[in-house]
Amino acid sequence: MDMNKIAEASDYKLAYYGNDVLKTRAKKVDRIDQGVIDLIEAMFQVMHRERGIGLAAPQIAISKRIIVVDLGVYKGPALALINPAVEQSSENLVPYEEGCLSVPGIMKEIFRPEITLVTGITPEGKEVRLEADGLLSRVLQHEIDHLNGILFVDRLEDHIRKELTPELKKIKKLNRK
Ligand code: NI
Repeated sequence: MDMNKIAEASDYKLAYYGNDVLKTRAKKVDRIDQGVIDLIEAMFQVMHRERGIGLAAPQIAISKRIIVVDLGVYKGPALALINPAVEQSSENLVPYEEGCLSVPGIMKEIFRPEITLVTGITPEGKEVRLEADGLLSRVLQHEIDHLNGILFVDRLEDHIRKELTPELKKIKKLNRK
């Protein structure tokens, strides 16, 4: 691995709960240029450094519609998608305990559609449609939410989120470090 790339990835700091970039609808990518390729490489590095299984560009304060996923530890795929979208979702919802690098230390059960049809563009410029279930479907939905300015804690019932207020206040302060 070349040292310049490592230095680039280390320039990117995580955005945490409360940061405006995480509440903003990210911009569509019109052209896959070298900047986008380098960004995806840096996103994989940040995700691995932070031991995450998914990362959306707004989480490193880049408001672009790009996500990376690596389910290698669960024997699943690694992939990057540009302009991803959930085209269809199954009606049945399933629970799963979610966490997020931008909301460290909090894990909560969230119900989401079990199966999704996700479209997007690979870094090679190929349009893909993938039917996802299980953890892949879960992570794709969570990451695509980030592109729409939604965090998993936004999906909690109000009374549950209110209980988290003291913790969330502490997390907000991480943005200033
Ligand atoms: Ni997240």
